Amino acid sequence: MTSRLFLLSLHMGSCSLAMASYSSPLQDFCVVVPKRRVFVNGEVCKDPKIVRADNFFFSGLHLMRDTSNAVGSNVTVVTVAELPGLNTFGISMARIDFALLVFVNGKVLTLHTHTPPKATEILTVLEGNIEVRFVTSNPENYLISKDLQKGDVFLFPQGLVHFHRNIGNNYAVVIAALSSHNPGAITIVNAMFDSNPDIARDLLAKAFQMDKNVVY
Ligand SMILES: *[C@@H]1O[C@H](CO)[C@@H](O)[C@H](O)[C@H]1NC(C)=O
Repeated sequence: MTSRLFLLSLHMGSCSLAMASYSSPLQDFCVVVPKRRVFVNGEVCKDPKIVRADNFFFSGLHLMRDTSNAVGSNVTVVTVAELPGLNTFGISMARIDFALLVFVNGKVLTLHTHTPPKATEILTVLEGNIEVRFVTSNPENYLISKDLQKGDVFLFPQGLVHFHRNIGNNYAVVIAALSSHNPGAITIVNAMFDSNPDIARDLLAKAFQMDKNVVY
């Protein structure tokens, strides 16, 4: 059943005729102009003469976040939206807080991948023990697994479906860096079972080889 889930997920990004990629900045930086009215493929740059240190600054990643939610974790991102100076540099950060496993009953930060564009993620564990997993692409679909402790660094290669979960007796927190200034996320379960409008239930049931009544 699970292998079919990944198969479906990979179809999403498999064909693109027009290749989009980050171009290198053509000037020192391109700080985003907030609340712009014109939409372009990217962001409009602020006049370098009025750029301030705050355009390259973000504060607050030291703060512990509330993890009493359905996924037992909380992701605080520092992307181009939070730090406008990141624009065009193809890099961003995130803090991920993990609830104590005992409170979340084994919940995982759900299977997901990053888009657009596909971002590689490298993380380091600041506190606690987490398990990390990712699955390689077709046809192998190898599950790559590792349990991490404080100070460990782990890489999720770009585009691959991955997840992490707290396996320790304590609160866990990681800091991640991503190779995109605007890494979105596709949460596989939401994309499949919570789309708007819904994907036909009989189709999902067939794709996952499940009884129609199980796909609610
Ligand atoms: C993450 O934590 C912040 C601050 O603790 C909270 O306001 C927010 O609702 C939390 N997000 C989720 C998804 O639980």
